[in-house]
Amino acid sequence: MSATRFSESVTGGIRNGVLVVTIDNPPVNAISAHVRQGLVKALDHAAALAMVVGVVITGAGRTFVGGADIKEFGKLPVEPALPEVIERIESNSKPVVAAINGAALGGGCEIALACHGRISGDKASFGMPEVKLGIVPGAGGTQRLPRLIGTIAAIDLIGSGRAVKATEALSLGLVDGLAKDHLDAALSLVHDLAGEPLRRTGMLEVPAVEPVAVEAAARKVLSKARGQAAPAEAVRLVKAAAKVDLKQGLADERATFLRLRDSEEAAALRHVFFAERQAGKVDKLEGIAPRKIETVGIVGTGLMGAGIAVAALTAGYRVVGIEQTEAAAANGHARIAGILDKSVQSGRLAATLRDECLAQLVVTANAGELAAADLVIEAVFDDLTVKTELFQRLDRIVRPDAILATNTSYLNPDEIAAATAHPERVVGLHFFSPANIMRLVEVVDCKATAPDVLATALAFARKLGKLPVVCGVTEGFIGNRIFSAYRREAEFMVEDGAAPHEIDAALEAYGFPMGIFTVYDMAGLEIAWARRKRQATTRDAKARYVEIADRLCEAGRFGRKTGRGWYDYSSGERAVDPEVTALIEAARAAKNIVSRDFTSDEIVARLLQAMADEGAALLAEGIAARSSDIDLVMINGYGFPAHKGGPVFAAETHKEATS
Ligand code: 3HC
Repeated sequence: MSATRFSESVTGGIRNGVLVVTIDNPPVNAISAHVRQGLVKALDHAAALAMVVGVVITGAGRTFVGGADIKEFGKLPVEPALPEVIERIESNSKPVVAAINGAALGGGCEIALACHGRISGDKASFGMPEVKLGIVPGAGGTQRLPRLIGTIAAIDLIGSGRAVKATEALSLGLVDGLAKDHLDAALSLVHDLAGEPLRRTGMLEVPAVEPVAVEAAARKVLSKARGQAAPAEAVRLVKAAAKVDLKQGLADERATFLRLRDSEEAAALRHVFFAERQAGKVDKLEGIAPRKIETVGIVGTGLMGAGIAVAALTAGYRVVGIEQTEAAAANGHARIAGILDKSVQSGRLAATLRDECLAQLVVTANAGELAAADLVIEAVFDDLTVKTELFQRLDRIVRPDAILATNTSYLNPDEIAAATAHPERVVGLHFFSPANIMRLVEVVDCKATAPDVLATALAFARKLGKLPVVCGVTEGFIGNRIFSAYRREAEFMVEDGAAPHEIDAALEAYGFPMGIFTVYDMAGLEIAWARRKRQATTRDAKARYVEIADRLCEAGRFGRKTGRGWYDYSSGERAVDPEVTALIEAARAAKNIVSRDFTSDEIVARLLQAMADEGAALLAEGIAARSSDIDLVMINGYGFPAHKGGPVFAAETHKEATS
């Protein structure tokens, strides 16, 4: 098969009378201008050759087509636009079949939808993740997908942005066939279709469905899209596909796509997309190979340890859990099995995989079993003496090449490392609870951590499906340092006149799932109180200190679990408590503060600025490598709304908008 080059990324060769067009635009075959130009030339070429009966489009490498080229967003448009290319494919007189070798996402899925047939390889996946970028599909996805798979399934896929694997795509009717040799199957489909009337997706009727079922599907996806514009627009367009003709539907879709592409929400989510790809990249690790990890030891199988164990088991590791007594080990085993069972019940894990995980799990009081571990993670009580003694003990048990990781939240991991004979093998792995669900892991690069130990910790976190962010040693690491600044500023505002419920309302309207005082009450106030008491002697006496939280704790108001905290929960709902209001007023009076009003905008602006300022300090101290890492930590660990881009990005945008 001799190849014809249609553009720098698109080539074609004739096989068995079919022009096989390959898109080769690494790393993900995004639809850059030269891909679009190449595809049009390839169709022209096939049309001009009488011996060619049809066309197969496929992708080189692991991806079919990863979507529009996001790097082109915001630049001057280059002809032809993707909708024109797609229209060319759908209206082509000779059959065009997609042979989908890997991920077909966004515009990639839209190319496949416009073809007259679709054959999926077993590694293919399909999705319209546009809403995750703050946009809607812009090349026919909202109009063609419901015609092919029905309105309800299309609302689910486009409104949530979730991707489906080949088998689900087949059962949905998104593809016509699933074949190990997808290319061969696509070639024969072209021959079957040649000379027959072609099934053009855009010409199909959207299957009729009960309006109540459509509304239920819409409600389901939109309930998870708090404060975002794109999912609601996507659902509106999908619903419209059943009511308006293709031309009108496509025009509305394109106009919406272009409008949203230039929105703040889209800019923020693009920032998050690229931030995630940058996270965990460390220049000094260039060329350093991670060590091999097969068995993971976890000391402490409480809530955190059990969550880490589940994350490791489901990623395919063998896990040895350690407890102090056999009874505690049995409890730990039950806790881990319980989380796995829950994952099966919620459909996140297949029952067979749960059984495989359990076969890879041992929980014991015999610490000697850690001799088999390549990596040991401690998840015991956050106390320096407890942890240093444990690490000294581990030093004598584990292999010399085993890595020791601490999951401390507030202690200094350099001090823990210094207690061992080999501080170079110690690293911090700060998971967030529940560790089997939360994506964020702060990977702490301690003073003595060896480069290959850091590289291994990063590779391990990625294998768990987590988002690792590298962080230097500082009290509370990136997240808790920023959170402390956020908390401090919120308390300053309370002392100055804002009510906790006003601050929470402003934050919730901004997009946080919960305001900060509600978060406090959920988490419990006593741990932070104990820390404040410990720090009382070393605190800068001249620095502003708000005592209200201390007064609440002294009154036994530890949050939700005691029925009272910043709010009162005696009715089952959070309610403003006059007792707290009186306590706040007394605190203001004691400092002669004349209370003033705050607008929601001012509340949000001050909190963003406080977080951004602390972020700047973390960068200056070399604790965080880049500001986008700080944004990711707050989005993935602390509920900061992703569609605002994270605190540093948002503070910058907010400043620009108001200057
Ligand atoms: N455009 C430009 N660059 C892209 C890209 C895209 N659509 N998708 C990925 N990249 C880049 C990444 O930034 C990264 O670059 P880097 O190496 O310089 O950091 C590189 O490709 C590799 O990406 P990943 O690390 O994510 O690679 P994986 O193999 O883990 O994942 C993927 C591959 C599943 C394709 C994943 O990259 C992905 O989900 N990409 C985004 C898909 C997407 O959102 N598509 C929709 C685009 S919008 C659209 O199509 C609009 C249309 O309707 C008109």
